[in-house]
Amino acid sequence: MRIVVLVSGTGSNLQAVIDAVAAGDLPVEIAAVGADRPGTPGIERSAAAGLETFVVDFKDFPARADWDAALLSAVAAYEPDYVVSSGFMRIVAADFINAFPGRYVNTHPALLPSFPGAHGVRDALAYGVKVTGCTVHFADAGVDTGPIIAQAPVAVLDEDTEATLHERIKVAERELLIKVLGDLARA
Ligand code: GAR
Repeated sequence: MRIVVLVSGTGSNLQAVIDAVAAGDLPVEIAAVGADRPGTPGIERSAAAGLETFVVDFKDFPARADWDAALLSAVAAYEPDYVVSSGFMRIVAADFINAFPGRYVNTHPALLPSFPGAHGVRDALAYGVKVTGCTVHFADAGVDTGPIIAQAPVAVLDEDTEATLHERIKVAERELLIKVLGDLARA
């Protein structure tokens, strides 16, 4: 199973996928890692691991539709079986979803449909939920919407900050993402 992974930032979940592949625990080929901005740690990690990388810089495209088309053609060139949004903080266009129907996988640090968006951890904490978690789902053209594949709960502690809670969620998220990718690869 060939995957292209899209990142916007740290890429720590991506690193867990890279490590699982390298350890022989995940029967997946990471064809390339792409980002929507230059200089992200996610791209640096990938290059350090010897993976192909590409950047489709959002700022290089005055018209949103042109960025959409450039992203689609950059990803499609690798002919992936699945595309994984791992902390990719952009909503893709309908054309992108249609190019990879049921094959665009996103992870989110909350129990969807609760707390979608860029601040899922902060919003859950602010609401005062006692249990949150993470979701891996097939993404559509909405904000963290689309059929849920798997979820894992994470308890919120009284002393949690956004950072401590997000770090615990990411531990669960990495395990869940690797399990889902393994299941897809073996299906
Ligand atoms: C992850 O928690 C991921 O779920 C989240 O960004 C983080 C990326 O961490 N994505 C979203 O919030 C999407 N709405 P990482 O860059 O360290 O892997």
